[in-house]
Formats: sequence, C-alpha cells, structure tokens
Amino acid sequence: MNNNNVIFRVFPGGTLHGVARVPGDKSISHRSIMLGSIAEGVTHITGFLEAEDCLSTMNAFRAMGVQIEGPEQGVVTVHGVGMHGLKAPNEPLYLGNSGTSMRLLSGLLAGQSFDAVLTGDSSLSRRPMKRVTDPLRQMGAVIKTSPNGTAPIRIRGSGPLEAIHYDMPIASAQVKSCLLLAGLYADGETGVTEPAPTRDHTERMLAGFGYPVKQVGNRITVCPGGKLVAADIDVPSDISSAAFFMVGAAIAENADLTLLHVGVNPTRTGVIDILRLMGANIEILNEQMVGGEPVADLRIRSSRLKGVQIPENLVPLAIDEFPVLFVAAACAVGETRLSGAAELRVKESDRIQVMADGLQSLGVHAIATPDGMVIQPRPIKGGKVDSHGDHRIAMSFAIASLRASGPIYINDCANVNTSFPTFVNLAKGLGLNIMVCTE
Ligand code: S3P
Repeated sequence: MNNNNVIFRVFPGGTLHGVARVPGDKSISHRSIMLGSIAEGVTHITGFLEAEDCLSTMNAFRAMGVQIEGPEQGVVTVHGVGMHGLKAPNEPLYLGNSGTSMRLLSGLLAGQSFDAVLTGDSSLSRRPMKRVTDPLRQMGAVIKTSPNGTAPIRIRGSGPLEAIHYDMPIASAQVKSCLLLAGLYADGETGVTEPAPTRDHTERMLAGFGYPVKQVGNRITVCPGGKLVAADIDVPSDISSAAFFMVGAAIAENADLTLLHVGVNPTRTGVIDILRLMGANIEILNEQMVGGEPVADLRIRSSRLKGVQIPENLVPLAIDEFPVLFVAAACAVGETRLSGAAELRVKESDRIQVMADGLQSLGVHAIATPDGMVIQPRPIKGGKVDSHGDHRIAMSFAIASLRASGPIYINDCANVNTSFPTFVNLAKGLGLNIMVCTE
C-alpha cells in the first residue's frame, strides 16, 4: 500500500477521442473468485479486474487455502475446493477499502464451520454492516461487530444456518448476495425480496456454475444441497469505469469515443438511461451475450445536455455513477434534481456531501439534500477539491476538467487503484490533460 498523498492535476482544453477498452467489471471479478473458490474443478477467468478491491478478495480466499494463479494480464485460474473445502484463515482477513468483499464474505463465512475475522481500512471500518449482520443473526449466525455495528466483523463457525425469508429494507445487491451465499449453507429454502431491482451478477453466476437459483417477481431463492461446477468466465468491461468516459465524451467539445466490450446488464445501465434523458448521444453497438452477461460497444459523442429530474427507479441501477453524473449535470442547461439516493451517503465517502462541496468550490451551485442533490449549472472554474480517499470522486473531478476554465487539483487520489489503476494512462491516451504528483 502506498501512503503518499496522490494528487491529480487536470488542465482545461482536453477532449476524448478514439477507441478504448476499460478494465474488467469489479462486481463480476469479486464474484468469480468467490464462486470459483467454492466450485468443484478449475475455473479460468479472463478480463479479471487487477485492482486493489478484487485483490483483497483474492488474498482472502488464498488465506483460506484456495490455490489461485494470477492475475496475469487479467487471466486468473482458481482451483476450486468445493462448498465445504475452505480452511480456517490463520489471521484476520484484511479487505482494504472493499465493501463488496466484506459484505459478501460475511454471508459465505457465516455458513462455514470455522471462525473468521474481517477487517478493513478506515473508510470500510466506518461503513454500515448491520444491514448484513442483522439478517445473518436471524439465520442463527454468531457474529460480533463494534458497538456501532461496523467492522471488524467476528464470525463464529457454527452448524447449518436457519433458512429465512428476508424482506430487504434497502435495495442492495451486496445484502442480497450476502444472504444468497449464506443460503447455500442453510437448512432449507432461503429467500430475499428486493424493494427494487439491483445488480444480479450473483444470481447469474450461480446459475452459470450450475447452482439453481429461483426468481419469481422480486423474490429470489436458493436451496442448500446443490454444488457449483467450475466454469470459464469472461469478465466484461466495467460500465462503472466506462461511465467516467461516457460523461467525459458527452460534455467535452469535439469528442467521439467508442468503449469496447462494456457490460450492459440491465441492472447496471441506469447511467445510459439517465445520460440519454439528459440528451446524450450514445449508441449501443454489437450487443451480444458473453458467459451469461450482455456486453456491447458504446459510442459517445459531444452532446448538448439538459438538466433533468432523475427518476427514482433508476437510482439502484446507476448507484455508483452519481459522482460523475453530478459532473454531467453541472455542464447541462437547466437544473438537475436527484432524490431517493440516501445510500450515496454511506459509500466509500459521503458522496452527496463530498461532491456538493467539490462542485461548489469549482463555482457550481450544488445543494446537498438528505437523499440527493439539486444542481444548478454554472461555468466550472479551476480550483482545489478533495476526494476524501474515494476513487469515484477523484475520477469524477478529473472528468470535470473537460469543461473547466482553469486547472483543478484533486487531493487524496491513491484509492483510484481500488477500482481503476490504469485510469490516468487511459485518460491521457484519449486526450484528457492529467498529471499525477505525490507528496
Ligand atoms: C455492489 C453493489 C453496490 C455497489 C457496489 C458494488 C456489488 O452496493 O455500490 O459498488 O458488487 O454487489 P450496494 O449493494 O450496497 O448498493
């Protein structure tokens, strides 16, 4: 880990032009290691995201006795140990900045016969974990957290869990996935009901590994007693990483960008829908199914954006893209309003407050509300902003330079490595004026 403060300096005058492939999908990469590890046989993964968050998941499974080769240019080989083959780790499993690792592993580990402790960095140690520990306790899991329900999470190995049906109070793919993974080790049918659709990569990948998953309406169920059979996984490019360049190409002058092999699972494409509502020129080309997930090439050209009221049903489908969508709104004509997105306050940072503060210091009229934001566009000035160690905030302000009148200095950017280590080089190659300094 690098303890230096990494600063991005971005300068006006850039554009985005060309053809690029952004790295692999983070959610799918995590799940490929988790399910590959508990499958029977050898799973071959290509397009794996070689970023800190996914490496945290990989290291956790290595610490539980799974032999994993790679990553080597996105290629990973997982020697599955079967559903009951994981071993007790010798030390706490350190999961860095990765909420997905912690919440999904909590479910998987609650069903094992050994004890485990999950820890994370200062951001992850502040994030709410009761949303997974409460339902897992209802299943009979023995779990301890800090008094306010945060990590470290201590999980005691116990017998089979009790199957429950859980009505999820929030739309969260992490909670759903946690409970489905725990449900593999329960004594009957475990079900979750979602208040709104969320990303369904766990369900798709379980099915791809031959494990039956049932969905009726918004209720998803699994039964114990099945097994996972190793499979080949081709991880599509991450639409959440593509989103920075989609917004960038929409707001920049003379931009024409094609992003290849992007995952366009309908539970992830809220960003396309919202940008199109705002008037963005986005074409979806070469749509095809790859290993159970839809992928496509996306062509985005300079667009005249208009402010919109963002439909609340799109919020869970674009949950990670709001920092950069706020930048799009700042460059539109007319006001944009977002509501129903209180979840943004408990991501890697409080993404509502941190984005509102940053946009305001660049001259944009951005007003934080308890569950969203109201943005009245103004010309973006140069200035200093702080990402608060949040990868997506850092990259969003880098994209804002495409419409800024002066340089923007973005503090605390090292965590871009958690999801998109090649961001700076890729962005530079496409025409963004970005420099990195450390202090
Ligand atoms: C994720 C689900 C989302 C998302 C996160 C990854 C996943 O979180 O924000 O980056 O891989 O399941 P929530 O399920 O908490 O909304």
